[in-house]
Amino acid sequence: MSAADDYERVAIVTGGGQGLGRAYAARLAGAGARVAVVDVAGGAARSAAEAIAEDAGADRVSAHEADVTDEEQVGAFVGAVVERWGRVDALVNNAGGALLPSAPFDSFSRADWTRVLDVNLTGQWLCAAAVVPHMRAAGHGKIVNVTSTMVSKGLPVGLAPYVAAKAGVVGLTRALARELGPDGIRVNAIAPGYIPVETRKTVHTPQAAQALRERMKTEQCLPVVGVPDDLCGAVEFLCSPASDFITGQVVNVDGGWAHG
Ligand SMILES: NC(=O)c1ccc[n+]([C@@H]2O[C@H](COP(=O)([O-])OP(=O)(O)OC[C@H]3O[C@@H](n4cnc5c(N)ncnc54)[C@H](O)[C@@H]3O)[C@@H](O)[C@H]2O)c1
Repeated sequence: MSAADDYERVAIVTGGGQGLGRAYAARLAGAGARVAVVDVAGGAARSAAEAIAEDAGADRVSAHEADVTDEEQVGAFVGAVVERWGRVDALVNNAGGALLPSAPFDSFSRADWTRVLDVNLTGQWLCAAAVVPHMRAAGHGKIVNVTSTMVSKGLPVGLAPYVAAKAGVVGLTRALARELGPDGIRVNAIAPGYIPVETRKTVHTPQAAQALRERMKTEQCLPVVGVPDDLCGAVEFLCSPASDFITGQVVNVDGGWAHG
């Protein structure tokens, strides 16, 4: 791919309104891609897009309010991106989160269990299904799914639906890499470590969050608390031609927590 092609690249980041997704969207725009910020929180998506537009220009970013678990809404934002820019080169399947306060595995209601799986796993499948026809037609594409380093150890206790969903993302990544390789579509995942963001408050109490930060720091190879920017390099790389011979992989970006 030439530098000119690079400048034409279009990336979609789901859950891009805040937290890690917002950082990924900003990084990809900074690296020269045109970026579609998708979020169920429309205001957050618009605010992230406005911030990106200040540096990249309004013609290089768009905001879309959509729930990734809703097939129609997913089809609508992918359609809008293709109508505007004519292509989709990369999808970062980031929307998700533990969503619920941590609790014993058998205390979640069926509805809550299903919601966590829907947002974290089914949503990634739906978004992939919507972009793949465009990537196939182009003969190339990059899908970066977001799992979690928690999958490797099943920790911390109390997040069973979330860990199960993110483990499903690993399987989805490998299955899609195998199935879409012949179409030139690379499918990888990143597994972030614990990176404190605002919404974690709904999952962990402030005391539990503090304890988790300290624990991760002690157990990681690198004794530091990660920040969103620490993940952006891996996302940028997996969306770029530099990673063209890599597919079906899960990259732990966790300061070495899952190591050993
Ligand atoms: N922060 C961490 O420590 C960490 C660690 C491992 C994995 N992750 C994963 O990284 C991703 C981002 O997490 P974060 O920490 O930035 O969380 P966050 O809650 O700050 O951001 C998630 C974003 O996704 C959006 N979202 C949620 N449900 C959605 C839906 N149905 N449709 C569209 N958008 C939706 C939210 O509105 C929010 O803007 C998640 O998939 C999360 O599971 C985070």
